[in-house]
Amino acid sequence: MFQQPSISIKGAAGQGVVRFGEATPDQRLQCYRLALAFGQPLSEEDFVEREEFMSQQPFARGTGWRFWCVFLTDNPSQVLATCKTIQRHLLLKDISGVRDELGYCIASVVTDPSYRGQGVASFLLRHVTQWLDGPGNAAASMLYSSKEDFYAKSGWHPVPDFETTLSAADASKRSASDELCLPKTDPISADGISALCERDTQGLRAEYSAQDIGKESSLMVVLPTAELVSWLHALAEFMGLKTRGKAPVHKGAISNRDTWIYWHHDFRKQCLYVQRIRTFVKESEPRTKALAAVLLHACREADIWELPKVAIWDANPEMRLAIDLLASRQVIRASNGDSARREKLSIRWKDQGMKMDPMIEKNEFYAWN
Ligand SMILES: CC(C)(COP(=O)(O)OP(=O)(O)OC[C@H]1O[C@@H](n2cnc3c(N)ncnc32)[C@H](O)[C@@H]1OP(=O)(O)O)[C@@H](O)C(=O)NCCC(=O)NCCS
Repeated sequence: MFQQPSISIKGAAGQGVVRFGEATPDQRLQCYRLALAFGQPLSEEDFVEREEFMSQQPFARGTGWRFWCVFLTDNPSQVLATCKTIQRHLLLKDISGVRDELGYCIASVVTDPSYRGQGVASFLLRHVTQWLDGPGNAAASMLYSSKEDFYAKSGWHPVPDFETTLSAADASKRSASDELCLPKTDPISADGISALCERDTQGLRAEYSAQDIGKESSLMVVLPTAELVSWLHALAEFMGLKTRGKAPVHKGAISNRDTWIYWHHDFRKQCLYVQRIRTFVKESEPRTKALAAVLLHACREADIWELPKVAIWDANPEMRLAIDLLASRQVIRASNGDSARREKLSIRWKDQGMKMDPMIEKNEFYAWN
């Protein structure tokens, strides 16, 4: 177990000494309970079941998903604060070439309400960052939070981002897609994800190798691996069963084998999140139509599940053309901006003195947590 020195805090029973460490199985249960608010509207029992279910997923096995905690030295089963680190595979390009690196997402940071304001979360994050920079071997770590100022004190800095939300304009027009002259699409089920992710990541490697970035810039992408993409599908299945009594079967849609989309259903936020859109079509007009077709399929999936919104993060110019096409036919209403979502991406680089802030590319919702 990775452990670090202690600090003193005040609690209901007087002064106490707390330590930092990776949660033992017993402490992990306490971590789940502390983080219960992140699992709304689930009951405590269902939330614990969800965390256990997620820990069985291929992505979480081994060191993929780690729980960290601050606990009372005299009573280690009393956990005062916790967070998770979730592994990411990064592809980086800079002047020295293209390389694979490890990264982490930090999630579910919480301090027991009776111990807030005493530096407990700062202590937790300080030691988590030491682990990230040391044994965790992380080139970068990221988190998604509305509390940017809090995390900035520990070294995670906000990155500008932009979200596009599609909402229903006229669902009846969506069913009549033949009139839109868009290519046919087919749904993607769980067993179709792996081959597509493989093709996607191979494509990214080739694109990174070919890209000329000059001396002063660098690029970074979280690789859209099948395990990562499927992780959010597993979560949607669990939440679907608990809150709607059924699990989504369709994970995305594909057009002509060269343009596809993955999504995940967020039943808590009432939104279908576009995890990733990928196209290998080179010519502009067919590409716009293919992208519009898979997006339309996403809107229909949202209709089926009565999710009022479809959200896309950082739509690139090609995507915007597809969105404009659908909006011009009044099939969707699109609103752009960063106001819809409270959580923002913040990043901490291992090399804090790094002069160039790498451009983060194609980092869509598949990497969120
Ligand atoms: C956010 C949270 C983890 C802070 O825990 P804590 O143990 O009270 O934090 P600390 O005592 O170490 O405070 C660290 C610093 O952050 C500041 N801070 C604390 N909560 C903050 C918040 N909600 N927003 C902005 N800054 C905050 C503190 O003022 C302190 O600043 P200082 O060092 O200049 O005095 C805790 O309030 C919490 O559990 N909130 C609910 C869950 C949550 O929102 N988690 C974060 C989103 S993922």
